[in-house]
Amino acid sequence: MSIKLPFLKFKDKQIPDKKRIEQQNIPEHVAIIMDGNGRWANKRGLPRVAGHKEGVGAVQKVVRAADKLHISALTLFAFSTENWQRSKTEVDFLMRMPKQFFHKYLPELMERNVRVETVGNFEQLPDHTKKAVWNAVEKTKDNDGLLLNFALNYGGRLDIMQAAKKMAEDIKKDELSIADVDESVFGSYLYTNGMSEPDLLIRTSGEKRISNFMLWQCAYSEFWFTEVFWPDFDEEVFMQAIQAYQQRKRRFGSV
Ligand code: FPP
Repeated sequence: MSIKLPFLKFKDKQIPDKKRIEQQNIPEHVAIIMDGNGRWANKRGLPRVAGHKEGVGAVQKVVRAADKLHISALTLFAFSTENWQRSKTEVDFLMRMPKQFFHKYLPELMERNVRVETVGNFEQLPDHTKKAVWNAVEKTKDNDGLLLNFALNYGGRLDIMQAAKKMAEDIKKDELSIADVDESVFGSYLYTNGMSEPDLLIRTSGEKRISNFMLWQCAYSEFWFTEVFWPDFDEEVFMQAIQAYQQRKRRFGSV
């Protein structure tokens, strides 16, 4: 007969010791590909959208955890340029998520001094989504705490392409010379202009790919994957990711 000791149970659950987070080595910018909402719902015999609804709570949990660690920026991949291919019901539901999120959490975001931003093709979003996001961006614009950046109708290729087009227009208008174009200049045309590049990219649900997310910006990001579906993501899993990041040796091509 085996005896189950409480500390073994504790160990099995891999509860991280928060004291083991080194305050000196916190990633400045964390980006998350929130994946697995549909599978979370399927497993429970619920419609896919129930997973998205539950995922809203996980968003706020991660905001609180990031704020607690004084992380500077948190980017969340909320809707990709490819997500339009989903059913109209699901797309409509996802487009209502920002309004629901801000309705519930904007007062807390203000209390936490969080600044909301968005990257992606904003123009293509339905008016009610634009209004909800814009209202949050406006209300939080003077906050100087955590930058909460929603990637909405975002695609890495779209980002690079729109930057190349805008840059070409400026060259054509003689406002920029080809000789002056370098990585920093090109980066200033991207949706993420003015933001730091993600130090850590987390993807949930066991998938191990980048799926057209920040292709330029993640050139030197550390990747961390978890089997956890997004609706189950919480502070504990977030801390595991941070601890894993702190074990990495970042060399940026050097030795
Ligand atoms: C991927 O899971 C998730 C999405 C495409 C949407 C993410 C949206 C939320 C978490 C809602 C919160 C959003 C805001 C703006 C507050 P999936 O549906 O692809 O899951 P699956 O791979 O299991 O099917």
